Order: sequence, then structure tokens, then C-alpha cells
Amino acid sequence: MKVPEIKEVPPGKKGRDLVQRDKKIMATSTKTSELVAERAKGALVWDVDGNLYVDFTSGIGVVNTGHCHPTVVEAISKQVNRLMHFAGTDFYYDIQVTLAERLAELAPGDFPKKVFYTNSGAESVEAAIKVAKWSTGRGRFLAFISGFHGRTMGALALTASKIQHQERFFSTMPGVDHVPYAYCYRCPYKLEYPGCGIWCADAIQELYLDKFVPPKDVAALFFEPIQGEGGYIVPPPEFPKKVFKICKENGILFVDDDVQAGFGRTGKMFGVEHHDIVPDILCVAKGMGSGIPVGAVIFDSKLDFGVLGAHSNTFGGNLIACVATMATLDVIEKEKLVMRSEKLGNHMSKRLDEMKEDNPIMGDNRGFGLMQATEFVRDPESKSPAPEIKEYVVRESFRKGLILLPCGASGVRYIPPLTIEEEHLDNGLDVLHEVIKNAGSISK
Ligand SMILES: Cc1ncc(COP(=O)(O)O)c(C=O)c1O
Repeated sequence: MKVPEIKEVPPGKKGRDLVQRDKKIMATSTKTSELVAERAKGALVWDVDGNLYVDFTSGIGVVNTGHCHPTVVEAISKQVNRLMHFAGTDFYYDIQVTLAERLAELAPGDFPKKVFYTNSGAESVEAAIKVAKWSTGRGRFLAFISGFHGRTMGALALTASKIQHQERFFSTMPGVDHVPYAYCYRCPYKLEYPGCGIWCADAIQELYLDKFVPPKDVAALFFEPIQGEGGYIVPPPEFPKKVFKICKENGILFVDDDVQAGFGRTGKMFGVEHHDIVPDILCVAKGMGSGIPVGAVIFDSKLDFGVLGAHSNTFGGNLIACVATMATLDVIEKEKLVMRSEKLGNHMSKRLDEMKEDNPIMGDNRGFGLMQATEFVRDPESKSPAPEIKEYVVRESFRKGLILLPCGASGVRYIPPLTIEEEHLDNGLDVLHEVIKNAGSISK
């Protein structure tokens, strides 16, 4: 089998028809490529016109176990005939408790934990906001510039990665102050690592908490272990530890948003484990259910609401979501996907760095495991962001059979399923290389 295989430059006839119908009826969202998917297996996707693609998106970091993994499909199929939904927030059943015990065991931190199930990343973040407010009695938050935590009004208040996320939505949740993240490729303070002494962390104390954000009013700080949507920004190792220390010294809860980095994506079970810190609250979703909508917040049991009705939902802990998650964890363990992500990630970063040698538009390659990206620039000296190159790379790769998603102002992310066959990973990287070589000419 030839992989990828483009028989008709996409979108083909059937694809174009569907795209037209979609445009009439579907609300505007974040559409990237005119790919009309029909079926998928592992890291391969077929469209309605018979084209075959390599998937470097995993449905936005969701199908870490690969599309339609047989273990997950079987678990869901069995459960569908037994019991699908019984409002786990109001009633009881075994699977939600057993899964919560397993998640609590997996999450960093050697202390009793509680779990609240959600249906998406943003809902996990909303739940974390409420856990933090309830348990501290405080109403303010800190979050990072270029951070992304979702688009519901509480989560949106924390999000700061693109203007269009915010425009016309003011006001969102009040009380959030944003501080610069450690984005060393484009230091917000125009300093250089390591000579900077990680000033961006000290500044949180000196410019914010000492000046105008009273620490005693701050419930929590929200942190992504790698900033995702904002550009796959990897902080230097000192930064998260310093930020964590500042939180602890000021009685501020540390919330880790592992929605995109979780479930083996970065070569650790949770992205925060790269930083050797134990969050008070962990937010997860995306990769948790291999495609079934499910998320959770896992937190120090001391922070629990303890009052019926303070927080709840209808679908959280849905049985299909629970069995899909249980099967996902089984696959991650059995197929050693965390290790596999690290190993394939090393291979990917080696190939990306080789490509960079003769393609100066690749300003910066970065990431952990199979969560990597390239930030494209017009030239490496000025580092001028190149959104037109980002768009070209996504568009032309798609036409040649590689599915990609952008991130940040001029980044392209590479997040294939962790189960991807090595040969398919290389096939995808070959397409990428060819497209990047041609992209050089559009920047001149
Ligand atoms: C780090 C992070 N948090 C939260 C979210 C929001 O998740 P959802 O789109 O499932 O609401 C995302 C989505 O990309 C994310 O990357």
C-alpha cells in the first residue's frame, strides 16, 4: 500500500459538495483544511474521494491510541448494550469509581485525591476554577500570555493566545491577570537565557504579586506544561519550578492544564512530569477517551466542595466515556505508548533538526515526545514570524497527503497518534520535508 496516496487533489468531487453544504449550515469554528474524512485506522485517514493521508493531528491531540483502536472499540461496543448513561453525578456505578481510583493513582502526588468527570477540556478548566474558588474563598487568578485553556467564558478569561479568541466577548470572568511565559525564542522581556536568571518567573512576584495583585486574593495560577495552541512553547527547566515555588510561598494553588499534553503525548504520562512538580489540581481531557468526549479534574482531596450541588453536571462519568478511558489506559500501558512517544519523538526531532540545517525558514523546532512543532520565520536573523509559510505548509502538505494543524502565529504542530508505525511517521516527515523545501521560495 502506498502511504500517503492522493488520487484526486483534495477536496475531490464528493469532498467539495460536502464542504459547500457544511458552509451553509455549520457555525463558523476553526476549520483548517477541506478534508472530508470517511474512515481511519491507526495513523491513516481516508477521505470520501478515496485519498489516503498520514495523520499528524490525532483529531487535535485526541486519538493518542490511534484511530479506532480495537481494544477501545470493543470496550465501547460491549458497554453500549449494557448501560450507556445513568447520571454518574447523581447515582452510583462501579466503572466511574474504579476509573477514578486509577486516575488518582496515575496523577502526580502521593496524597489522597478526588476526581470530577467532565466532557471537554474547557469544562475541566471551568471545574478547576470552581474547585480553586471554593476551597480558597479567593476570587482572582493568574494565567500566562500565549496560554490556551478553552473558549467558555471562565476558561476564555484565562486564555491569551490569539486576539480573535477575545474580540467582542468582553467581559469574561473578572479577576484574571496574565503574566509572560518563558518563551525564550522570543523573550517577552528581550533577555537571553540563561543569563536572564529566569527573570520572567521572578517578575511574577516582583511586578505583580508585590505591586497590584494581592497574593491573598489569588486562588490559583493556571499553567500549561508546554503551551499548546499558543505555539508549542517549551519553557526552560528552571521556569516551572520557580513559578511553582512562588505559588507555594503565596498560598496560591497550582493548576496544571494537561488537556493537550496528557496521556503519553509528551513521552510522560502527563506533561507536568517533565517539570518535576506536583500540581494541586490537574486538568485532563483530549487523549483520555481516544475520541469519546471525556475529561476530568483530579485534585487534592482537601480541596473538595463537600456540599451537594456546589458543582455537578449531567454527562460527567458517562459509562461509555468511562469504559473508553479505561480501555485507553489499558492500551497505553500494554503497548508502552509513553515510552514509544519518547522514542518516536526523538526520531522526529532528529529529522526536523536535519531539515532545519538547509531550510532557514524553520526558525525553531521544539517539543517533547510526539508533541512537537516548528515555528516558521522569514529569515533566522530577524526571526520575523511567517504566517504565510505556516499556511503554505499546512495547505500543501494536505494536498500531498499529510494532515497538519497550525499553532501560535507561525507554527505548525506535529502530533501523530502514539501508535503510528515508524514507516508512516517517516512517510509523513518526507512529505513535510518536500513541502518545506518549496516553501522557502514563497518567503523571498
Ligand atoms: C491546554 C488546553 N486546555 C484546554 C483546552 C480546551 O479543550 P476543549 O477544546 O476540549 O474544550 C485545550 C484545547 O485545545 C487545550 O489545548
